[in-house]
Amino acid sequence: VNFVEVIAKKRDGRELNEDDVRAFVGGAARGTLGDEQLAALLMAICIRGASTRETTLLVEAMRDSGACWRLGDAYPEAVDKHSTGGVGDSVSLIFAPLVAACGVPVTMMAGAGLGHTQGTLDKLASIQGFRAAGNREEAIARIERCGVCFAAQSQEIAPADRKLYALRDVTATVPSSALIVASIMSKKLAVGTKRLILDVKWGTGAFCKKLAEAEELAEALVSVAASAGVMTSALVTDMNEPLGNCLGSAAEVRAAVEVLEGRGDRRLTELTMALAAEALVMAGRPADEAATALRAAIEGGAARHKLDELVLAHGGRPEFTHLPRPSRTVTVTAPRAGVVRAVDGEALGWVAVSLGAGRRRQGDEVDPAAGLVVHARTGDRLLAGAPLATLEIGARDVSLDPLLDRLTQAFELGDEAPQARPLVVARFKGNL
Ligand code: URA
Repeated sequence: VNFVEVIAKKRDGRELNEDDVRAFVGGAARGTLGDEQLAALLMAICIRGASTRETTLLVEAMRDSGACWRLGDAYPEAVDKHSTGGVGDSVSLIFAPLVAACGVPVTMMAGAGLGHTQGTLDKLASIQGFRAAGNREEAIARIERCGVCFAAQSQEIAPADRKLYALRDVTATVPSSALIVASIMSKKLAVGTKRLILDVKWGTGAFCKKLAEAEELAEALVSVAASAGVMTSALVTDMNEPLGNCLGSAAEVRAAVEVLEGRGDRRLTELTMALAAEALVMAGRPADEAATALRAAIEGGAARHKLDELVLAHGGRPEFTHLPRPSRTVTVTAPRAGVVRAVDGEALGWVAVSLGAGRRRQGDEVDPAAGLVVHARTGDRLLAGAPLATLEIGARDVSLDPLLDRLTQAFELGDEAPQARPLVVARFKGNL
Protein backbone atom coordinates (compact mmCIF):
# COMPACT_ATOMS: atom_id res chain seq x y z
CA VAL A 1 0.00 0.00 0.00
CA ASN A 2 1.28 3.45 -0.92
CA PHE A 3 0.32 5.34 2.21
CA VAL A 4 0.28 8.72 0.47
CA GLU A 5 -2.64 7.40 -1.60
CA VAL A 6 -4.43 6.23 1.56
CA ILE A 7 -4.17 9.74 3.02
CA ALA A 8 -5.38 11.26 -0.25
CA LYS A 9 -8.34 8.87 -0.34
CA LYS A 10 -9.59 9.99 3.07
CA ARG A 11 -8.74 13.62 2.34
CA ASP A 12 -11.11 13.38 -0.64
CA GLY A 13 -13.86 11.80 1.46
CA ARG A 14 -13.61 8.24 0.11
CA GLU A 15 -13.97 5.12 2.25
CA LEU A 16 -10.86 3.23 3.42
CA ASN A 17 -10.77 -0.51 2.85
CA GLU A 18 -9.37 -3.24 5.09
CA ASP A 19 -5.88 -3.06 3.54
CA ASP A 20 -5.74 0.71 4.06
CA VAL A 21 -6.79 0.43 7.70
CA ARG A 22 -4.37 -2.45 8.38
CA ALA A 23 -1.52 -0.42 6.80
CA PHE A 24 -2.37 2.56 9.02
CA VAL A 25 -2.73 0.60 12.25
CA GLY A 26 0.22 -1.71 11.55
CA GLY A 27 2.38 1.28 10.66
CA ALA A 28 1.44 2.96 13.95
CA ALA A 29 2.05 -0.14 16.06
CA ARG A 30 5.33 -1.18 14.41
CA GLY A 31 6.74 2.32 13.86
CA THR A 32 7.03 1.79 10.10
CA LEU A 33 5.03 4.94 9.30
CA GLY A 34 6.27 8.36 10.33
CA ASP A 35 4.37 10.73 12.59
CA GLU A 36 3.67 13.11 9.70
CA GLN A 37 1.77 10.47 7.70
CA LEU A 38 -0.08 9.09 10.71
CA ALA A 39 -1.09 12.59 11.81
CA ALA A 40 -2.20 13.51 8.29
CA LEU A 41 -4.56 10.55 8.16
CA LEU A 42 -5.82 11.23 11.68
CA MET A 43 -6.69 14.79 10.66
CA ALA A 44 -8.38 13.59 7.47
CA ILE A 45 -10.51 11.13 9.49
CA CYS A 46 -11.29 13.86 11.98
CA ILE A 47 -12.53 16.20 9.24
CA ARG A 48 -14.11 13.70 6.83
CA GLY A 49 -15.48 11.23 9.40
CA ALA A 50 -15.59 7.46 8.99
CA SER A 51 -18.30 4.96 8.15
CA THR A 52 -19.46 2.27 10.57
CA ARG A 53 -17.49 -0.25 8.49
CA GLU A 54 -14.29 1.82 8.74
CA THR A 55 -14.81 2.24 12.49
CA THR A 56 -15.23 -1.53 12.93
CA LEU A 57 -12.08 -2.16 10.88
CA LEU A 58 -10.17 0.34 13.04
CA VAL A 59 -11.39 -1.26 16.29
CA GLU A 60 -10.42 -4.76 15.13
CA ALA A 61 -7.03 -3.82 13.71
CA MET A 62 -6.13 -1.78 16.78
CA ARG A 63 -7.31 -4.55 19.14
CA ASP A 64 -5.19 -7.06 17.22
CA SER A 65 -2.10 -4.80 17.09
CA GLY A 66 -0.89 -6.43 20.33
CA ALA A 67 -1.75 -9.14 22.82
CA CYS A 68 -5.26 -10.03 24.02
CA TRP A 69 -5.18 -10.66 27.78
CA ARG A 70 -8.64 -12.30 28.07
CA LEU A 71 -8.94 -11.18 31.69
CA GLY A 72 -12.68 -11.85 31.54
CA ASP A 73 -11.93 -15.61 31.30
CA ALA A 74 -9.96 -15.47 34.56
CA TYR A 75 -12.26 -12.93 36.27
CA PRO A 76 -15.75 -13.16 34.73
CA GLU A 77 -17.20 -10.73 37.31
CA ALA A 78 -14.56 -8.05 36.69
CA VAL A 79 -15.64 -4.68 35.38
CA ASP A 80 -13.79 -2.02 33.41
CA LYS A 81 -14.77 1.66 33.31
CA HIS A 82 -13.89 4.43 30.88
CA SER A 83 -14.78 8.05 30.28
CA THR A 84 -14.75 9.71 26.88
CA GLY A 85 -12.83 12.58 28.49
CA GLY A 86 -13.58 15.65 30.48
CA VAL A 87 -12.13 18.04 33.04
CA GLY A 88 -12.09 17.67 36.80
CA ASP A 89 -12.98 14.04 36.15
CA SER A 90 -11.17 11.88 38.70
CA VAL A 91 -13.99 9.31 38.79
CA SER A 92 -11.73 6.36 37.82
CA LEU A 93 -9.49 6.96 40.85
CA ILE A 94 -12.54 6.67 43.11
CA PHE A 95 -14.56 4.09 41.17
CA ALA A 96 -11.80 1.44 41.23
CA PRO A 97 -11.25 1.21 45.01
CA LEU A 98 -14.94 1.80 45.75
CA VAL A 99 -16.25 -0.99 43.51
CA ALA A 100 -13.44 -3.36 44.56
CA ALA A 101 -14.24 -2.65 48.22
CA CYS A 102 -17.76 -3.93 47.46
CA GLY A 103 -16.32 -7.23 46.22
CA VAL A 104 -16.31 -6.67 42.44
CA PRO A 105 -12.86 -6.86 40.77
CA VAL A 106 -11.87 -3.90 38.59
CA THR A 107 -9.56 -4.17 35.57
CA MET A 108 -9.09 -0.67 34.34
CA MET A 109 -7.28 -0.03 31.07
CA ALA A 110 -6.69 3.68 31.53
CA GLY A 111 -5.29 6.51 29.43
CA ALA A 112 -3.06 9.54 29.78
CA GLY A 113 -4.23 13.12 29.17
CA LEU A 114 -5.81 13.82 25.80
CA GLY A 115 -6.08 17.34 24.39
CA HIS A 116 -7.48 19.67 27.05
CA THR A 117 -8.51 16.77 29.35
CA GLN A 118 -6.37 15.23 32.07
CA GLY A 119 -5.89 11.44 32.07
CA THR A 120 -6.00 8.81 34.79
CA LEU A 121 -2.47 7.52 34.11
CA ASP A 122 -0.96 11.01 34.50
CA LYS A 123 -2.85 11.47 37.76
CA LEU A 124 -1.66 8.12 39.10
CA ALA A 125 1.92 8.99 38.06
CA SER A 126 1.87 11.78 40.65
CA ILE A 127 1.90 9.05 43.32
CA GLN A 128 5.52 8.16 43.93
CA GLY A 129 6.43 4.72 42.53
CA PHE A 130 3.01 3.97 40.98
CA ARG A 131 3.24 1.77 37.91
CA ALA A 132 0.30 0.57 35.81
CA ALA A 133 0.45 -3.00 34.50
CA GLY A 134 1.91 -3.31 31.00
CA ASN A 135 1.68 -7.07 30.63
CA ARG A 136 -0.74 -9.84 31.60
CA GLU A 137 1.36 -11.25 34.47
CA GLU A 138 1.57 -7.84 36.09
CA ALA A 139 -2.18 -7.36 35.62
CA ILE A 140 -3.02 -10.70 37.26
CA ALA A 141 -0.59 -10.08 40.12
CA ARG A 142 -2.26 -6.74 40.90
CA ILE A 143 -5.79 -8.19 40.79
CA GLU A 144 -4.77 -11.11 43.03
CA ARG A 145 -3.27 -8.72 45.53
CA CYS A 146 -5.95 -6.07 45.78
CA GLY A 147 -8.83 -6.79 43.37
CA VAL A 148 -7.87 -3.89 41.09
CA CYS A 149 -5.55 -3.54 38.15
CA PHE A 150 -4.78 -0.27 36.42
CA ALA A 151 -3.24 -1.06 33.03
CA ALA A 152 -1.68 1.07 30.30
CA GLN A 153 -1.18 0.62 26.57
CA SER A 154 2.30 -0.78 26.01
CA GLN A 155 4.41 -2.48 23.35
CA GLU A 156 2.58 -5.65 24.43
CA ILE A 157 -1.03 -4.47 24.58
CA ALA A 158 -2.82 -1.95 22.32
CA PRO A 159 0.46 -0.59 20.85
CA ALA A 160 -1.40 1.06 17.96
CA ASP A 161 -3.59 3.01 20.37
CA ARG A 162 -0.51 3.93 22.38
CA LYS A 163 1.03 5.61 19.33
CA LEU A 164 -2.14 7.14 17.88
CA TYR A 165 -3.31 8.35 21.30
CA ALA A 166 -0.05 10.22 21.84
CA LEU A 167 -0.32 11.80 18.38
CA ARG A 168 -3.99 12.75 18.73
CA ASP A 169 -3.19 14.40 22.05
CA VAL A 170 -1.00 17.02 20.37
CA THR A 171 -2.54 17.34 16.89
CA ALA A 172 -6.10 18.43 17.75
CA THR A 173 -7.44 15.16 16.33
CA VAL A 174 -9.30 13.84 19.35
CA PRO A 175 -12.88 14.92 18.52
CA SER A 176 -13.76 12.22 16.00
CA SER A 177 -16.39 9.70 16.96
CA ALA A 178 -14.67 6.96 14.91
CA LEU A 179 -11.27 7.61 16.50
CA ILE A 180 -12.75 7.75 20.00
CA VAL A 181 -14.68 4.49 19.52
CA ALA A 182 -11.59 2.78 18.04
CA SER A 183 -9.30 4.05 20.79
CA ILE A 184 -11.55 3.10 23.69
CA MET A 185 -12.96 -0.17 22.40
CA SER A 186 -9.71 -1.57 20.94
CA LYS A 187 -7.94 -1.44 24.28
CA LYS A 188 -10.98 -2.63 26.24
CA LEU A 189 -11.39 -5.64 23.94
CA ALA A 190 -7.65 -6.36 24.12
CA VAL A 191 -7.86 -6.56 27.93
CA GLY A 192 -10.88 -8.81 27.48
CA THR A 193 -13.03 -7.78 30.44
CA LYS A 194 -16.63 -8.88 29.88
CA ARG A 195 -18.33 -5.96 31.68
CA LEU A 196 -17.92 -2.32 30.85
CA ILE A 197 -19.21 0.93 32.32
CA LEU A 198 -18.89 3.97 30.06
CA ASP A 199 -19.21 7.62 30.97
CA VAL A 200 -19.95 9.48 27.74
CA LYS A 201 -19.61 13.18 28.31
CA TRP A 202 -21.27 16.08 26.57
CA GLY A 203 -20.73 19.82 26.96
CA THR A 204 -18.10 22.53 26.87
CA GLY A 205 -15.48 20.45 28.70
CA ALA A 206 -16.08 17.30 26.60
CA PHE A 207 -15.10 16.28 23.06
CA CYS A 208 -18.81 16.08 22.15
CA LYS A 209 -20.06 19.64 22.50
CA LYS A 210 -23.66 18.68 21.67
CA LEU A 211 -25.85 16.22 23.55
CA ALA A 212 -26.96 14.51 20.31
CA GLU A 213 -23.29 13.84 19.39
CA ALA A 214 -22.67 12.24 22.79
CA GLU A 215 -25.78 10.09 22.45
CA GLU A 216 -24.61 8.90 19.04
CA LEU A 217 -21.16 8.18 20.45
CA ALA A 218 -22.71 6.21 23.34
CA GLU A 219 -24.76 4.15 20.88
CA ALA A 220 -21.71 3.46 18.72
CA LEU A 221 -19.60 2.38 21.73
CA VAL A 222 -22.36 0.14 23.10
CA SER A 223 -22.95 -1.41 19.70
CA VAL A 224 -19.26 -2.33 19.23
CA ALA A 225 -19.10 -3.71 22.79
CA ALA A 226 -22.31 -5.72 22.39
CA SER A 227 -21.16 -7.32 19.15
CA ALA A 228 -18.03 -8.44 20.99
CA GLY A 229 -20.21 -9.97 23.72
CA VAL A 230 -19.34 -7.34 26.35
CA MET A 231 -22.10 -6.33 28.79
CA THR A 232 -22.14 -2.56 28.69
CA SER A 233 -23.88 0.30 30.38
CA ALA A 234 -23.15 3.79 29.06
CA LEU A 235 -24.30 6.87 30.95
CA VAL A 236 -24.39 10.15 29.04
CA THR A 237 -23.37 12.80 31.56
CA ASP A 238 -23.00 16.55 31.84
CA MET A 239 -19.57 18.09 31.23
CA ASN A 240 -20.65 21.71 30.77
CA GLU A 241 -18.39 22.65 33.64
CA PRO A 242 -15.62 20.73 35.43
CA LEU A 243 -17.03 17.68 37.19
CA GLY A 244 -15.07 18.11 40.42
CA ASN A 245 -13.41 21.30 41.57
CA CYS A 246 -9.79 20.30 40.84
CA LEU A 247 -7.91 19.93 37.54
CA GLY A 248 -4.37 18.55 37.42
CA SER A 249 -2.60 15.36 38.44
CA ALA A 250 -1.84 15.64 42.15
CA ALA A 251 -4.83 17.93 42.74
CA GLU A 252 -7.18 15.30 41.30
CA VAL A 253 -5.67 12.51 43.38
CA ARG A 254 -6.33 14.69 46.42
CA ALA A 255 -9.90 15.28 45.22
CA ALA A 256 -10.40 11.51 44.87
CA VAL A 257 -9.07 10.85 48.38
CA GLU A 258 -11.54 13.41 49.72
CA VAL A 259 -14.48 11.62 48.06
CA LEU A 260 -13.28 8.27 49.42
CA GLU A 261 -13.14 9.86 52.87
CA GLY A 262 -16.75 11.04 52.51
CA ARG A 263 -15.89 14.75 52.32
CA GLY A 264 -15.46 15.25 48.58
CA ASP A 265 -16.98 17.43 45.90
CA ARG A 266 -20.74 16.87 45.59
CA ARG A 267 -20.96 16.43 41.78
CA LEU A 268 -17.87 14.23 41.62
CA THR A 269 -19.29 12.05 44.41
CA GLU A 270 -22.74 11.86 42.82
CA LEU A 271 -21.49 10.76 39.40
CA THR A 272 -19.02 8.25 40.83
CA MET A 273 -21.81 6.72 42.91
CA ALA A 274 -24.06 6.48 39.83
CA LEU A 275 -21.36 4.75 37.73
CA ALA A 276 -20.30 2.45 40.59
CA ALA A 277 -23.95 1.48 41.17
CA GLU A 278 -24.17 0.45 37.48
CA ALA A 279 -21.17 -1.83 38.07
CA LEU A 280 -22.68 -3.48 41.13
CA VAL A 281 -26.04 -3.96 39.41
CA MET A 282 -24.20 -5.56 36.49
CA ALA A 283 -22.60 -7.91 39.02
CA GLY A 284 -26.10 -8.98 40.09
CA ARG A 285 -26.79 -6.75 43.11
CA PRO A 286 -30.29 -5.24 43.38
CA ALA A 287 -30.15 -1.48 42.69
CA ASP A 288 -31.17 -0.37 46.22
CA GLU A 289 -28.63 -2.72 47.83
CA ALA A 290 -25.92 -1.41 45.49
CA ALA A 291 -26.43 2.17 46.67
CA THR A 292 -26.39 1.06 50.32
CA ALA A 293 -23.23 -1.03 49.83
CA LEU A 294 -21.42 1.88 48.16
CA ARG A 295 -22.35 4.31 50.92
CA ALA A 296 -21.27 1.79 53.56
CA ALA A 297 -17.91 1.26 51.81
CA ILE A 298 -17.24 4.99 52.05
CA GLU A 299 -18.67 5.59 55.52
CA GLY A 300 -17.00 2.50 57.01
CA GLY A 301 -13.59 3.34 55.48
CA ALA A 302 -13.31 0.17 53.31
CA ALA A 303 -13.07 2.14 50.04
CA ARG A 304 -10.38 4.46 51.43
CA HIS A 305 -8.44 1.46 52.74
CA LYS A 306 -8.74 -0.20 49.32
CA LEU A 307 -7.08 2.83 47.74
CA ASP A 308 -4.01 2.33 49.96
CA GLU A 309 -3.98 -1.39 49.08
CA LEU A 310 -4.19 -0.74 45.35
CA VAL A 311 -1.47 1.90 45.41
CA LEU A 312 0.81 -0.54 47.26
CA ALA A 313 -0.04 -3.33 44.79
CA HIS A 314 1.05 -1.01 41.95
CA GLY A 315 4.39 -0.25 43.61
CA GLY A 316 3.34 3.17 44.89
CA ARG A 317 3.51 4.87 48.29
CA PRO A 318 0.06 5.63 49.69
CA GLU A 319 1.17 8.84 51.37
CA PHE A 320 -1.21 11.36 49.94
CA THR A 321 -0.06 14.19 52.18
CA HIS A 322 3.27 14.00 50.29
CA LEU A 323 1.80 14.56 46.81
CA PRO A 324 3.53 17.29 44.78
CA ARG A 325 2.38 20.80 45.73
CA PRO A 326 2.32 23.96 43.58
CA SER A 327 5.23 26.37 43.95
CA ARG A 328 2.75 29.25 44.02
CA THR A 329 -0.91 30.02 43.47
CA VAL A 330 -2.80 32.93 41.92
CA THR A 331 -6.56 33.43 42.27
CA VAL A 332 -8.77 35.14 39.70
CA THR A 333 -11.86 36.91 40.95
CA ALA A 334 -15.25 37.95 39.59
CA PRO A 335 -15.01 41.28 37.72
CA ARG A 336 -18.64 42.05 38.63
CA ALA A 337 -21.44 40.76 40.81
CA GLY A 338 -23.76 38.24 39.20
CA VAL A 339 -24.77 34.65 38.80
CA VAL A 340 -22.48 32.13 37.08
CA ARG A 341 -24.37 31.27 33.91
CA ALA A 342 -21.76 28.97 32.35
CA VAL A 343 -18.20 27.75 32.83
CA ASP A 344 -16.20 26.89 29.72
CA GLY A 345 -14.69 23.55 30.68
CA GLU A 346 -12.44 23.32 27.62
CA ALA A 347 -10.94 26.76 28.32
CA LEU A 348 -10.17 25.70 31.90
CA GLY A 349 -8.63 22.47 30.58
CA TRP A 350 -6.33 24.37 28.21
CA VAL A 351 -5.25 26.73 30.99
CA ALA A 352 -4.31 23.67 33.05
CA VAL A 353 -2.40 22.22 30.07
CA SER A 354 -0.51 25.51 29.66
CA LEU A 355 0.55 25.27 33.29
CA GLY A 356 1.97 21.79 32.59
CA ALA A 357 -0.97 19.57 33.56
CA GLY A 358 -0.97 18.16 30.01
CA ARG A 359 1.23 17.89 26.94
CA ARG A 360 1.66 20.40 24.13
CA ARG A 361 4.15 18.22 22.22
CA GLN A 362 4.70 14.49 22.09
CA GLY A 363 6.94 13.35 24.91
CA ASP A 364 6.36 16.43 27.13
CA GLU A 365 6.59 15.66 30.83
CA VAL A 366 3.40 16.38 32.76
CA ASP A 367 4.01 18.55 35.82
CA PRO A 368 2.17 16.75 38.65
CA ALA A 369 1.85 19.90 40.75
CA ALA A 370 0.27 22.05 38.03
CA GLY A 371 -3.47 22.59 37.84
CA LEU A 372 -6.48 24.60 38.90
CA VAL A 373 -8.94 24.76 41.75
CA VAL A 374 -12.38 25.93 40.68
CA HIS A 375 -14.33 27.92 43.27
CA ALA A 376 -17.37 29.17 41.35
CA ARG A 377 -19.86 26.71 39.90
CA THR A 378 -22.75 27.20 37.51
CA GLY A 379 -25.69 28.78 39.32
CA ASP A 380 -23.61 30.35 42.13
CA ARG A 381 -24.45 33.97 42.97
CA LEU A 382 -21.25 35.95 43.42
CA LEU A 383 -20.26 39.37 44.70
CA ALA A 384 -17.72 41.34 42.67
CA GLY A 385 -14.26 40.18 43.75
CA ALA A 386 -15.41 36.68 44.77
CA PRO A 387 -12.89 33.95 43.86
CA LEU A 388 -13.52 32.18 40.54
CA ALA A 389 -10.55 29.82 40.32
CA THR A 390 -7.00 29.43 41.58
CA LEU A 391 -4.07 28.66 39.29
CA GLU A 392 -1.72 26.11 40.85
CA ILE A 393 1.66 26.77 39.28
CA GLY A 394 4.23 24.00 39.30
CA ALA A 395 7.74 23.99 37.91
CA ARG A 396 6.98 25.41 34.43
CA ASP A 397 7.78 29.03 33.64
CA VAL A 398 4.52 30.49 32.40
CA SER A 399 3.41 33.83 31.10
CA LEU A 400 0.59 34.50 33.53
CA ASP A 401 -1.39 37.41 32.08
CA PRO A 402 -2.95 35.60 29.09
CA LEU A 403 -3.82 32.65 31.33
CA LEU A 404 -5.48 34.88 33.91
CA ASP A 405 -7.52 36.56 31.15
CA ARG A 406 -8.57 33.26 29.63
CA LEU A 407 -9.52 31.90 33.03
CA THR A 408 -11.62 34.95 33.93
CA GLN A 409 -13.39 34.83 30.55
CA ALA A 410 -14.21 31.15 31.05
CA PHE A 411 -16.79 32.17 33.66
CA GLU A 412 -19.88 33.75 32.12
CA LEU A 413 -21.54 36.04 34.65
CA GLY A 414 -25.07 37.35 34.15
CA ASP A 415 -28.16 38.39 36.01
CA GLU A 416 -30.49 35.44 35.48
CA ALA A 417 -29.82 32.01 36.93
CA PRO A 418 -29.34 29.35 34.21
CA GLN A 419 -31.62 26.34 33.98
CA ALA A 420 -30.36 23.48 36.14
CA ARG A 421 -29.06 20.53 34.09
CA PRO A 422 -29.15 16.88 35.21
CA LEU A 423 -25.78 15.23 35.77
CA VAL A 424 -26.89 11.93 34.20
CA VAL A 425 -28.87 12.59 31.04
CA ALA A 426 -29.35 9.20 29.37
CA ARG A 427 -28.45 5.53 29.70
CA PHE A 428 -27.63 3.07 26.90
CA LYS A 429 -27.29 -0.63 27.57
CA GLY A 430 -25.92 -3.48 25.53
CA ASN A 431 -25.80 -7.27 25.91
CA LEU A 432 -27.52 -7.15 29.34
N1 URA B 1 -10.42 7.95 25.96
C1 URA B 1 -9.69 7.16 25.14
O1 URA B 1 -9.09 6.19 25.56
N2 URA B 1 -9.63 7.48 23.84
C2 URA B 1 -10.27 8.53 23.32
O2 URA B 1 -10.18 8.74 22.14
C3 URA B 1 -11.04 9.35 24.18
C4 URA B 1 -11.10 9.04 25.51
